[in-house]
Amino acid sequence: MIVTLLFWNDADHRNLIIPLEHPNPEDIIMDKKEQVAKEALSFIVQGNVVGLGSGTTASQFIKILGKSGLKDKIVGVATSLNSDKLAREVGLRTVDIDSVDWIDVTVDGADEVDKDLNILKGGGGHLTREKKVRNKSKNYVIIVSDEKIVTRLAEKFPIPVEVLPFGHKTTLKELESIGMSCKFREDFITDNGNMICDCKPLEKFDLQNLHFRMKEIAGVVETGLFLGGEKTVLVSNGEKVEVLK
Ligand code: A5P
Repeated sequence: MIVTLLFWNDADHRNLIIPLEHPNPEDIIMDKKEQVAKEALSFIVQGNVVGLGSGTTASQFIKILGKSGLKDKIVGVATSLNSDKLAREVGLRTVDIDSVDWIDVTVDGADEVDKDLNILKGGGGHLTREKKVRNKSKNYVIIVSDEKIVTRLAEKFPIPVEVLPFGHKTTLKELESIGMSCKFREDFITDNGNMICDCKPLEKFDLQNLHFRMKEIAGVVETGLFLGGEKTVLVSNGEKVEVLK
């Protein structure tokens, strides 16, 4: 915590020292996450099947949904075991993705969003389930703080790629052969029993092309590139929420 001392004279011209606390930068980001999570509630109506995202921002949304009057009037489809557990803890009913014909609205976070609203996800390692839930959703709402807006995807974060354990070292070499520097996330196994390989492109790249080249490699389950598709992105800068479509 940063503390500033403010020097002030009182009515009797005595020096007063008033300590002023500056909010922690992490608290500021958490406030933004809470702000967009609250806003996302307006996209949900009674009777909806709701896709429940993963990560800290989506967790805020799950908690807010659990406290809302919609709590008993919706069912959730979770994108991770963690989100499923949290949803049940806050009193939401969750069902298996295969038990519904479609998902009305999914609310999820993101690691990066570019100007065309392409998205990078999977920082938490849940990208395959997140994409499966997105693909079954009629409405897709992404909630982020403004730090997540970037000029190009993979600018700050590497691209997470879910990889089968079988032949994973070979898969890494094959991923690197298409122009990336890759590294397995240590001590991490996905909810699907797989591994996450974080890949940093070495040069400027075409998003679609890179995604398809990665998917052609046997052993690659899914990539963290969520390209195209209709979506609404809610961005909080701490003061207001901007809606991008
Ligand atoms: C989980 O696998 C990710 O896709 C998250 O949605 C993403 O990492 C955003 O997480 P935060 O909301 O914690 O930043």
